[in-house]
Amino acid sequence: MEERLQKLLAAAGVASRREAEKLIVAGRVQVNGKVITELGYKCGPQSSIKVDGKLIAREKKVYYLFNKPKGVVTTMEDPEGRACIADYVQELKQRVYPVGRLDYNTEGLLLLTNDGALAQALTHPSHQVGKTYTARVKGLMQDDDLDKLRMGVRLEDGLTAPARTELLERDKERGLTTFNLTIYEGRNRQVRRMCEAIGFPVRDLKRIKLGPLNLKGTARGKLRPLSEGEVDALYQAAGL
Ligand code: URA
Repeated sequence: MEERLQKLLAAAGVASRREAEKLIVAGRVQVNGKVITELGYKCGPQSSIKVDGKLIAREKKVYYLFNKPKGVVTTMEDPEGRACIADYVQELKQRVYPVGRLDYNTEGLLLLTNDGALAQALTHPSHQVGKTYTARVKGLMQDDDLDKLRMGVRLEDGLTAPARTELLERDKERGLTTFNLTIYEGRNRQVRRMCEAIGFPVRDLKRIKLGPLNLKGTARGKLRPLSEGEVDALYQAAGL
């Protein structure tokens, strides 16, 4: 998609949009080797942009942790008009997109970034980082049920990889079990399908951790930038 030059410069963190306009008018900006002084000039994604002769990285890499509420689709637009991620990122200068997906009715931690290399590494099967979910299921699970989830459940797309479990609550009155499940794969609706396969339909599902990241301190529906330490830890977890 083509964007106005001053917008691209601002998104790359070179200057504010107003300052970027001044740089352009002053003849300090080149696009594909040609000085551009026209403010409405638009560039495609492949154009090389230089300021004072120095090539700029097209877009500053940004990383946000989002606490997705239930009832939100993990896409940037929804043809059915349901709430989606785009509704929560309108204030951001950079265009970010979600790494991985949470179901419409799953809440919790989503990583939003414009860092394609990191996104690709985190979702590649060889570098799957642990994802921890708190699940509340219908029925009273016994230890051997949790063992099944830990050791592997046969789903229609094959046996699941070893996982970790932690029992949190067995509510005998309401007939509900709450536990944490950490998986190292990213199959579609995996947690719901695993629980269903052993006879415990999921009532509520929330992702509370993704590799080194956790949801603590980020309220439902809120977004916060990752710290440098968190970005470094993610890179390490992704094997980059
Ligand atoms: N597993 C699920 O079943 N749903 C999610 O949203 C994420 C993991």
